[in-house]
Amino acid sequence: MVRIGVLVSGRGSNLQAIIDSIKEGKLEAEIGLVISDNRNATALERCRKAGVDHTVIERRSFSSKADFERSLADSLKGRGTQLVVLAGFMRILGPDFLSSFPQRVINIHPSLIPAFQGLEAQKQAVEFGAKVSGCTVHIVDESVDAGPVIIQAVVPVKPEDTPETLSDRILSYEHRILPQTIQWFSEGRVQVEGRKVVVKGAKYGTLPVNPALEKF
Ligand code: GRF
Repeated sequence: MVRIGVLVSGRGSNLQAIIDSIKEGKLEAEIGLVISDNRNATALERCRKAGVDHTVIERRSFSSKADFERSLADSLKGRGTQLVVLAGFMRILGPDFLSSFPQRVINIHPSLIPAFQGLEAQKQAVEFGAKVSGCTVHIVDESVDAGPVIIQAVVPVKPEDTPETLSDRILSYEHRILPQTIQWFSEGRVQVEGRKVVVKGAKYGTLPVNPALEKF
């Protein structure tokens, strides 16, 4: 069992995938707290429906980024958070936050990093003419969308794709690889060695997901 804190800013479909996986008994985790930096996030509605503890901490309530980040970290620590999950959190976290959870902050990004980092990754992939894209769960460090990779899922990019159709195809895998990664942390199987992350006992070498998904 791992106790997680989830940071969100918007729609919250990845948060929903976590909530559903826990309910279905596939994911051995408990959500200690969801924090949104946006009071209008749909993700908060999902928390209300599911009975998940949630709060809003807005950047504008603090005079500095450091104070904002310390408030986020203190709230998560107060709930015994062991793993922080960024699920559509639209801010870049710095050392004031990351030092509180060394190698215990993960993010989901809708591309195969290091391709298409930053905003609108799916639009970038379509406009670049890439033939495959996908999604990545990685450890968060002080770089942007470039920390050590835990898992990636590959999807095709079709000639007729729009950013929206590609986003939908990628999202269906986001909703699988994020709960799978949390489950691996819950089982104590994630080993970080510099840039390389190894999931102990995982099957490697299969596509479209590497390492292979287990229950998800
Ligand atoms: C996802 O595409 C995720 O990869 C990116 O932000 C989006 C969040 O979607 N980091 P949702 O809020 O989980 O629905």
